[in-house]
Amino acid sequence: MPPLKDNPALQAPKRNQPLFTPGTAANQALVVFVLGGPGAGKGTQCANIVRDYGFQHLSAGDLLRAEQDREGSEFGDMIKSYIKEGQIVPMEVTVQLLENAMTGAIEKDGSRKFLVDGFPRKMDQAVAFEEKVVKSRFTLFFDLAEEDMRKRLLKRGETSGRSDDNEESITKRFRTFVETSMPVVEWFEKDGRVVKVDARKSPEEVYEGVKAAFEKEGIEMKGK
Ligand code: C5P
Ligand code: MG
Repeated sequence: MPPLKDNPALQAPKRNQPLFTPGTAANQALVVFVLGGPGAGKGTQCANIVRDYGFQHLSAGDLLRAEQDREGSEFGDMIKSYIKEGQIVPMEVTVQLLENAMTGAIEKDGSRKFLVDGFPRKMDQAVAFEEKVVKSRFTLFFDLAEEDMRKRLLKRGETSGRSDDNEESITKRFRTFVETSMPVVEWFEKDGRVVKVDARKSPEEVYEGVKAAFEKEGIEMKGK
């Protein structure tokens, strides 16, 4: 395979500014990044936000798994091995998948509000996305201790069918989270763009924290 940066499938038109400015009008997009360790409850809470706030949910992990399984994908085997090892897939692929999903969703139903879940997990993804696609409004961060996350993931692994919900992959994913993904959260935090939510309690109680975070950021519920 040629180096990713030379791959024709990833050659988006050169831009000297992001595709969108932040917002919900024409040529705009409103992006909230959703981060937290593996098993912190990102996906569960995103479903609540979609229901009540009219956001679209784009999970970077789900998009990568779909690309991995897509017939004829030239990236399938590469993605598979990165996921199994709990490593971060080269950002060119993930940023392009997200951009395609956003433009597709805007064309399809006009919605311009996006929860980008499980992204950015590495500094280069954060920089590339904000330079090329749009500057995020803020990052919603789910805070939970590793032992609690491990318990949730092992429970999920009983039914999820995921290749990485097992002890060995979970340990690797935690290491990647601490070493590679937390610096991204700290970087956004320095920029005053992180809202932390305590993720220890029940999904209903955690959602109360999420609603408070959205209120703080001035994002209103649907139909208000
Ligand atoms: O978020 P989720 O747990 O579904 O991600 C599963 C895997 O997908 C990660 O462990 C990683 O291998 C890959 N991934 C990535 N970059 C992201 C999100 C996920 O490489 N931004
Ligand atoms: Mg998820």
